[in-house]
Amino acid sequence: MAPFATLLLATSFLSGHSLAKLFAFEKVQLTEKHLDSLSDEDASLFAFQYSAAAKNSTPARCRVFPGDNKWPSEKGWAKLSRQLSTPNGLIATVPQAAPCYPGQYQNAAKCQQMTANWTNSYTHIDDPTEILSPMYQGITCEPPAVFDSNTCTLGGYPSYVINAKTVLDIQLGINFARNNGLRLVIKNTGHDFAGKSTGAGALSIWTHNLKDVTFYDNYVDDSGYKGPALKGGAGLQSFDLYKAANDHGVVVVGGEGQTVGVMGGCIQGGCHSPLSSLYGMGADNVLGFEVVTPTGEFVTANSTSNQDLFWALRGGGGGTFGVVTSVTVKAYPDFTTTAATWMFDSITIGRDKFWAATRAYFDRIIPNVDAGIYSLFILAPNGSETTFISAPFFAPNKTSAQVSTLLNPYFSALKSLGVTVTPQITQYKGFYPAWRANFALEPMSEVSNAGGSRLFPRSNFVSETGRNISFGVIQASVQAGSQFIGFNEAPTLARGGNVDNSVNPAWRNTVLHAITGKQIDMHKSAAEILAARATFTNGTLKSFRDVTVGSGTYLNEADRLEPDWQNAFWGDKYKRLLSIKKEVDTKDVLWAIHAVGSEGWVVESVNGLPNENGRLCRVNGTTV
Ligand SMILES: Cc1cc2nc3c(=O)[nH]c(=O)nc-3n(C[C@H](O)[C@H](O)[C@H](O)COP(=O)(O)OP(=O)(O)OC[C@H]3O[C@@H](n4cnc5c(N)ncnc54)[C@H](O)[C@@H]3O)c2cc1C
Ligand SMILES: *[C@@H]1O[C@H](CO)[C@@H](O)[C@H](O)[C@H]1NC(C)=O
Ligand SMILES: *[C@@H]1O[C@H](CO)[C@@H](O)[C@H](O)[C@H]1NC(C)=O
Ligand SMILES: *[C@@H]1O[C@H](CO)[C@@H](O)[C@H](O)[C@H]1NC(C)=O
Ligand SMILES: *[C@@H]1O[C@H](CO)[C@@H](O)[C@H](O)[C@H]1NC(C)=O
Ligand SMILES: *[C@@H]1O[C@H](CO)[C@@H](O)[C@H](O)[C@H]1NC(C)=O
Ligand SMILES: *[C@@H]1O[C@H](CO)[C@@H](O)[C@H](O)[C@H]1NC(C)=O
Ligand SMILES: *[C@@H]1O[C@H](CO)[C@@H](O)[C@H](O)[C@H]1NC(C)=O
Repeated sequence: MAPFATLLLATSFLSGHSLAKLFAFEKVQLTEKHLDSLSDEDASLFAFQYSAAAKNSTPARCRVFPGDNKWPSEKGWAKLSRQLSTPNGLIATVPQAAPCYPGQYQNAAKCQQMTANWTNSYTHIDDPTEILSPMYQGITCEPPAVFDSNTCTLGGYPSYVINAKTVLDIQLGINFARNNGLRLVIKNTGHDFAGKSTGAGALSIWTHNLKDVTFYDNYVDDSGYKGPALKGGAGLQSFDLYKAANDHGVVVVGGEGQTVGVMGGCIQGGCHSPLSSLYGMGADNVLGFEVVTPTGEFVTANSTSNQDLFWALRGGGGGTFGVVTSVTVKAYPDFTTTAATWMFDSITIGRDKFWAATRAYFDRIIPNVDAGIYSLFILAPNGSETTFISAPFFAPNKTSAQVSTLLNPYFSALKSLGVTVTPQITQYKGFYPAWRANFALEPMSEVSNAGGSRLFPRSNFVSETGRNISFGVIQASVQAGSQFIGFNEAPTLARGGNVDNSVNPAWRNTVLHAITGKQIDMHKSAAEILAARATFTNGTLKSFRDVTVGSGTYLNEADRLEPDWQNAFWGDKYKRLLSIKKEVDTKDVLWAIHAVGSEGWVVESVNGLPNENGRLCRVNGTTV
């Protein structure tokens, strides 16, 4: 019996009572009638998992890979292409920098333009296959001026991409991949820190163009919520979402980054926000999802339908439980917002004063969040000099006078240290103009960049000793050359409402989400690269873990080699998440590195480095 069979037919939604109506693109669905109209052979490619008509591929040690006997023929791919809702919906991957290499795409002018635009993240986000962490794609086919990858191969890129325009496209993609034993991945923007949105030999579902929005000024959820809400397509990015909300005089809880895919990986993994110290995580504000499950069925997950799935999708991570097509979230009235920026550097004031002034900011960590603040601050090293940048101190629902009062003790402390700063404190009419003016466009990651993070709890900052200890490990990491990005915010349940979801419980005690990184010379041998990585994972990040025992790590901004990741990402919620994964994805159709239930599989990368450029196979020794 199919777990979702009762919700299979489109008509059950049209006659339903959900206030969040399906988008037009969600009404175009795969039906049994459609499958009946196909030849038996074709129907076997596209049938739902529960159907006896589905092609019964014998489980193999590895997912079927290009070149294997079982890899679909050109004719097979053409069949998939023909079923899609748009004529050019199936895209065979061509790396963006292919014009820079010998072969049919070589074109010097295009290569030059591509190279010039490489650091602009939009160049990659708007491409069907590129990701923002090139390290995990295997660094193939970079523009030679960026990195001499020598040849242009597909590396960790998927083989084919479905440019999803309807639910039908997604259902066809999932069923085709599952019935043929192929690897399946989902890409929205490609922001994932660990390369979870790509994979060699995969069929990829690209959700980037699902950008519909509907606003409800008086949404009524059967569970008790009454108020404004916004339903948005899975492809919405912060800049789309915040503009749409602003057009209706409301705010919603999404990411800080301009281009982050809020309704995709961000919200499914939690999503910390400039509004988190007021309203919790993005995931805490979800009222419902529309989702295509790994069986190919299209369902609603909300507080009364598919409750387990609803719980898991709010924090359990993207690319794991299904392909979300839209999310309905709470909205709140807009408010005056103020942002403050300032900076100081060790060249100007000297290193001792610099670190004393930076340490003084750690006295503000708790008072800031208790006032509802989200403060993003950067410690940027340059040789042995460092710059402190408030980027920015973001104060939703506060006037500039209130912010001046709040910051006064800190600026006084700086003054007594003999450090003068010239803060810019600007009051905006609403959240949207403040957000637009204060958060810079995120650049494309460098090939050498490996990132990771740690959640620092409130208890670390209560005493002076505690503040000294946390400051000490962060200072040491910066002095060793790592950039530090601090998010001083507190997405506690008390503020976000009493939400029971799968967000990492460590977030509830967090007052500082600390991101750090390491530059790795990717020209070195695999052994040297792995040794350098160990000094990050088991050096810098271990020093962060050692002073935050019992806390965790934000899965969406984590080191790809995070040890004990199940516990770090989900704590005691992992057990239930794993059982839900086993229930909704009995065939492990969706797999991503360190996603729930990913333990039984490994990417056998061709160079032994952590990346996506090899086959996805069962961990040796596990039973098929
Ligand atoms: C520059 C930058 C800024 C960031 N800012 C923030 C921030 O302010 N707050 C925050 O919380 N995080 C932030 N992040 C982290 C961000 O949450 C993660 O990178 C997240 O994975 C992005 O999701 P995406 O859909 O945009 O990216 P993708 O890389 O496309 O997808 C991420 C994961 O989600 C899966 N996925 C995507 N769409 C769907 C879907 N529709 N259904 C099911 N699975 C899906 C993918 O398969 C992949 O596993 C930032 C990251 C970067 C690089
Ligand atoms: C490169 O950037 C320029 C200027 O922003 C833009 O006009 C052009 O379309 C971009 N090219 C690509 C391939 O993205
Ligand atoms: C959940 O979705 C179903 C199907 O659309 C709908 O009938 C139900 O009212 C929704 N539940 C809530 C709590 O809104
Ligand atoms: C780093 O310092 C060097 C001089 O030591 C200077 O030339 C360079 O501009 C600095 N870089 C940044 C990003 O500040
Ligand atoms: C916004 O500020 C007003 C006035 O200070 C206060 O009453 C209200 O509770 C605040 N809203 C939030 C969400 O904190
Ligand atoms: C914290 O560090 C400062 C600067 O090093 C030092 O003066 C102070 O005594 C320390 N406080 C405690 C309680 O360790
Ligand atoms: C970190 O240390 C653990 C335990 O010793 C080890 O299993 C792991 O491989 C190390 N990680 C890296 C990246 O070296
Ligand atoms: C598993 O075994 C196969 C076949 O012996 C081998 O090629 C592969 O490298 C092994 N994979 C891992 C991750 O050890």
